[in-house]
Amino acid sequence: MGEMNRREFIKSAAIGGAVLSIAGIKLHDPLQASASGKYEIGQCKSVRVKCVSEVGWLDTRKLGGQMRAAGGPKTSQWVIPWDPANAAGSCSLVDMETLDGQHHKFLLDTGWSHSYMDECFKREGIDEMLKSGEIEFLFISHEHLDHFWGLQTVLKYNPKIKIIIPATFYPEGMHLLKGAEFITPGACNRIPHQGQLVQLQIGQVNKLYEGCAAVAFDLPIVIRVRGEQSLYFNVKDKGLVCVTGCCHQNILTTAEFAREKIAGAEKMYGVYGGLHIAPFGPLQEKGEEIVKGMAKFNFKKVACNHCTGLPAVQKMIDLGYPVVQGSGKYGSKSKLYVGNGDEVVFA
Ligand SMILES: [Fe+2]
Ligand SMILES: [Fe+2]
Repeated sequence: MGEMNRREFIKSAAIGGAVLSIAGIKLHDPLQASASGKYEIGQCKSVRVKCVSEVGWLDTRKLGGQMRAAGGPKTSQWVIPWDPANAAGSCSLVDMETLDGQHHKFLLDTGWSHSYMDECFKREGIDEMLKSGEIEFLFISHEHLDHFWGLQTVLKYNPKIKIIIPATFYPEGMHLLKGAEFITPGACNRIPHQGQLVQLQIGQVNKLYEGCAAVAFDLPIVIRVRGEQSLYFNVKDKGLVCVTGCCHQNILTTAEFAREKIAGAEKMYGVYGGLHIAPFGPLQEKGEEIVKGMAKFNFKKVACNHCTGLPAVQKMIDLGYPVVQGSGKYGSKSKLYVGNGDEVVFA
C-alpha cells in the first residue's frame, strides 16, 4: 500500500469506526450525583417480575464435571465442550409502572438453550411481546452462558431490539451479538443484532426510567466472565428493590452500593433474582455469612431463585426472612422460591 493510500485507508477506517460508535455501540450517559452526593433516580409505582425461567441447567453434577474436565473454574466458558442436552437458562420479564401509570417492560437475560427458551417464551407469551415491540429492551446482566447464550431466541422475534450490556464484555460475547458460532461450547447466534447496543460503564448510576436505574460492577467471575450489572427500583412509599441476574458481586455489595449512593435506598424493600450463594451444593461458611449479612437491610420481600441455591433459601427461611414462595412448576425444583412461571410484585 502506498503512503497516500495508507493514509486514505486509515482515514476511512476511522470514519467507519466513528459511524459504528454512533449507529451501533453507545455508552449510556451516566447520572450525575446531586449536591448531597447521592443519585436521584426518582420513584416508580410498582415493579412486577415474571420468572420466565430460573433453571440455568438441568444437571449440576454434569455441568461441574464438564467444567473440571476442561481445566476448572478459570477456563473460559467459550472453550468448554458443554452438553447441549444439559442447557436451560435464566430469564425474567420486568414490568415496571411509573407514577403516572405508564408500563415499561423489558427482559432480564436470555437464558441458554435455544429450544428450551423458545418453549418458555411461548408459554409466557414473550415471543408475541417481542414481536409487537411491547418489550422495550433486553438487559443482559452478564456474559455467562445460562444468561446470554439464548440470545438468538430473543433476536428471532425482534432482531432490532435495543440491548444493554456491561462495558466489560469479552470479544467472544461481542461476536455473538453480531452473529457467530462457537463450535466447541455450542454457542451460536445466526441472527445478527440490528438494534442499538448500549454499554454501561463500571460503577456509574444509569437512570433508565423514573425510579429505575442500573449499575455495572467490575469483578472477575468464574469461567472467565467479567462484570455484572444489576437493577434498582425505587418504589414509592416502600423503598428500594434490587433485581439481579446471578449477583456475582453478592447481594451485600449490591445493597451497600445503593445505600451509599442512591437517594431513598436507606429503606430497602426487596430483592429479586439469583444471589449466587450456594449454587452447587451445601451452604458454605462464606455463603452463610452473606445470608446472615442480609439481615441488616431488613428486606420486606426476598424473591430469590436460580443460583441462590436451595440450602441458602432454607437458611433465609430459618432466619425468619420474608422469602416469597413459588409453585415449583415447569422444572423448578422447589416451592420454597419464586420459580418458572411464577411472579412477584413489589408495590
Ligand atoms: Fe446464572
Ligand atoms: Fe452467572
